Amino acid sequence: MIKNLSHDLAATPHRDERTRQEFVASLRHHVLDGMAGSMRARYENVIKPGFEQSNGRPPADGEEVHDAMLSDPYFCFYSAVRYNAQQMVHRSVIPLVDRNMEELNERARKLREDNTMTGGSLKLNSAVEVPRSVSSIDVHLVPGSYHSEYADNDTSAGAIYDNSINVFAFNQMGKNTDDIGHTFANFVRIAHPDFKPEVILDVGCTIGHNTVPWAQTFPDAQVTGADIAPALLRYGSARAKSLGVAVDFRQMNCTALDCPDASVDVVFSSMFLHELPLKDIRAYIKEAYRVLKPGGTLWILEAHVPPRGIGHEFTKLMWAKVIPGMTYLFTRNSDAKLLMDYYWDTIDQAASPETLMATMQRVGFEKPRYRMAHPVCEYVAKKPLSAS
Ligand SMILES: C[S@@+](CC[C@H](N)C(=O)[O-])C[C@H]1O[C@@H](n2cnc3c(N)ncnc32)[C@H](O)[C@@H]1O
Repeated sequence: MIKNLSHDLAATPHRDERTRQEFVASLRHHVLDGMAGSMRARYENVIKPGFEQSNGRPPADGEEVHDAMLSDPYFCFYSAVRYNAQQMVHRSVIPLVDRNMEELNERARKLREDNTMTGGSLKLNSAVEVPRSVSSIDVHLVPGSYHSEYADNDTSAGAIYDNSINVFAFNQMGKNTDDIGHTFANFVRIAHPDFKPEVILDVGCTIGHNTVPWAQTFPDAQVTGADIAPALLRYGSARAKSLGVAVDFRQMNCTALDCPDASVDVVFSSMFLHELPLKDIRAYIKEAYRVLKPGGTLWILEAHVPPRGIGHEFTKLMWAKVIPGMTYLFTRNSDAKLLMDYYWDTIDQAASPETLMATMQRVGFEKPRYRMAHPVCEYVAKKPLSAS
């Protein structure tokens, strides 16, 4: 069941809107579980024998499997349904956001201007240009991508994001879609009990759903969420106020962070790098180094797959089979399993750890390292204490 958001920017869907959202969630379930499941049989029974007959050998790697499947009618049908289901996620929430847009924008404005709570602010910067990696495509098929605005003080991109994550992820990401943030911030707190960060920066924060948990976990720190898209930041700032948590939201490009040199203890980003061109990833890592204090830490959560060989096969096995299976075993919830199934598809093309490690080393980070902490990869890099 899709649940209502539990903060002051919640808009109540009509019954038919909620029914549609439920349908779309079920359709995605069918596509990613049922149809994707039958793809294996299709491959084993039809595509692989056909490939072997034409080539005298089985496909050598994933690329060849993919190429062989591209012309298969069942695969084409699956891809078309899947693509449409992704579009339908957003279409199932856009009428709700549209209908409530004026009132939501006003509610968000009032929350942002509420001075009864100390701390928390919003600073937009009209000089920041939205990069083509965001503006030239509808990222994740969201109409208008992250950056489009439809009114003064618009928050609709934020409202669409917040409401659609619930449909997309079947309420499996925590009460306020903040499980990643809570899990990671608490991991840092428990694993590094002597670490007392004073300034934390979450880059690519979207609506701050993982930034707010940093502020809740480290209440003495000054926590900033940075993103390129004003409508997301307006929404995020109002959302944080409504949750009673002080977070500063700033519009900036990760390639030119608007922070003084050596001023930040933690630069964090989660599920962000996969949306950047490689040149921007490199620029971001260089900027992270610049703004970190000596001894400060860059923490990145991202998904990755070793490009080939046994590592690739093992990771694929873990992501595509073991984790979804274990998830189902422990939760008995097929929606939770489905969410894990989906991760595999999205991580396959991410920048390799070797590339990220080499970049971190090049800009001066000390002993960068990464480790697979399924279902994500954790990168940690420290700016040397001796750095200026
Ligand atoms: C997938 S979302 C990040 C999700 C979020 N961090 C999480 O953990 O769920 C990517 C975000 O990065 C932002 N973004 C994309 N390119 C950017 C850039 N060059 N600088 C800053 N933010 C950017 C987008 O506006 C979007 O909000």
